[in-house]
Amino acid sequence: MRVTISEIKEMKAKKEKIVMLTSYDYSTAKLVDEAGIPLILVGDSLGMVLLGYESTIPVTMDEMIHHTKAVVRGTKKALVIGDMPFMTYHTNISDALRNAARFIQEGGAQAVKLEGGVTVAETVKRIVECGIPVMGHIGLTPQSIHQLGGYKVQGKTPEIAEQLLKDARALEQAGAFAVVLELVPAPLSNLITQKLSIPTIGIGAGPDCDGQVQVIPDLLGLFSDFVPKHAKQYAKLAGLIRAALADYIAEVKAGKFPTAEHSSTMDESLLEELART
Ligand code: KIV
Repeated sequence: MRVTISEIKEMKAKKEKIVMLTSYDYSTAKLVDEAGIPLILVGDSLGMVLLGYESTIPVTMDEMIHHTKAVVRGTKKALVIGDMPFMTYHTNISDALRNAARFIQEGGAQAVKLEGGVTVAETVKRIVECGIPVMGHIGLTPQSIHQLGGYKVQGKTPEIAEQLLKDARALEQAGAFAVVLELVPAPLSNLITQKLSIPTIGIGAGPDCDGQVQVIPDLLGLFSDFVPKHAKQYAKLAGLIRAALADYIAEVKAGKFPTAEHSSTMDESLLEELART
């Protein structure tokens, strides 16, 4: 049985910190699930960390569904959330419902996430009414990067701080089961967390959120283009991979790999017969 949204909401009530992590493929998701992480986000961050796009904007529904299926196949316990890509929930509510449904029906996810507050509240409400749990996402919303003018902390001015609180409340009222706060000043995240009855999940939003989410290649030191300020590297896999690749190249060139251990034998007489032809 997978983790449910009620269990996630209860964790806030019990003041139990919620751990969430992204995953994009079968093998990694399996490790994340086995580690006991209850929430896995198939984030559209995969556009940058996996597919090499400059932003999350080019990511398509088909790409998201492809990766969501792999993550679902690798997991047994975690609640898997599919991230709705750019413009797949803005054009109209029918499109939003159809695309949210694809994550559940084709992808096998248990919930979807979308970016925005007041402006998407009606859409969130309809998706939830149709039986699909929704996680909100406010603060730095990477799909609006051109409008926001860069990956910067949001909510430093009184107007934006007030708007973020309104956005969080609108999502709660619309029925979202949790809300991601990305790049929000820690004191404001604390205030929003206290005001909401649903959990807040922070990324670059300070320690007082009900939970934390990180992008797994950042956490494992696998994404070497840049390290975001909010990320802590718990491992340095890029260095390990480089060293392993150098060893592999050296052993192949020196004829040290493969050895008998990595090869199979065959009947000698068959070989002799073949050699005579
Ligand atoms: O796409 C993603 O990985 C996200 C997280 C940063 C919350 O939206």
